Amino acid sequence: MQRDISALRKSYSKMSLSKNEVPDEPIKLFDKWFSEIKSSTSLEVNAMTLSTIDNEGYPKGRVVLLKHYSDEGFIFFTNYNSEKSISIKNNNKVSISFFWEDQERQVIIKGFAKKTSEEISSNYFNSRPKGSKLGALVSENQSAVIKSKQVLIDKFNELKDEYKNKEISRPLNWGGYIVSPVEYEFWQGGENRLHDRIRFKLIKNNWLKERLSP
Ligand SMILES: Cc1cc2nc3c(=O)[nH]c(=O)nc-3n(C[C@H](O)[C@H](O)[C@H](O)COP(=O)(O)O)c2cc1C
Repeated sequence: MQRDISALRKSYSKMSLSKNEVPDEPIKLFDKWFSEIKSSTSLEVNAMTLSTIDNEGYPKGRVVLLKHYSDEGFIFFTNYNSEKSISIKNNNKVSISFFWEDQERQVIIKGFAKKTSEEISSNYFNSRPKGSKLGALVSENQSAVIKSKQVLIDKFNELKDEYKNKEISRPLNWGGYIVSPVEYEFWQGGENRLHDRIRFKLIKNNWLKERLSP
């Protein structure tokens, strides 16, 4: 099977990024870009690719949802038994990245992942709709091989009955991670492939800002 898709090509020209004009704190630029994309599209702009390294040394990226960000870092929630969590346990250096097509922008962040406090995990779990809570209980071993979808549906219905009049509390194998950044790269698509790339590196508690060749 062959498909030639080499003619798929798009020009970028919407905006540019000047090193002197961007803030010295990368979280401020992230916040500006996030606010701008959020108001420009109804797509899931908080969807980010989380990349981890597995025990065999292979990188793996998968999409998770960003649920909170601050000077401290970027928080997502998942299952602590999942493949990504096992990878993080062995190597907590991760990358998260966003592609915001509407604004012709990409952000790549490298950092260290660690579990959020029980309080943060429980507060977020409690705020989820009941169906999502049940889903988390059903998929207690996220990433494990299962026989069929029916296994999940049966378990979901069983738990739905069991918790009909009961609150569901957070399973201990479910919670958040916070990624504390050590590097950010902001990419703004430019004309003739002369894209703008501004990188921030954390060096002795200060952010070094540099322009990179596209
Ligand atoms: C738009 C989107 C959002 C997702 N959000 C999450 C999330 O917030 N947490 C999560 O654990 N998985 C989320 N997933 C599923 C993951 O991509 C992945 O399939 C799952 O976490 C298992 O990954 P692992 O086996 O590499 O650990 C999302 C997938 C998509 C496409």
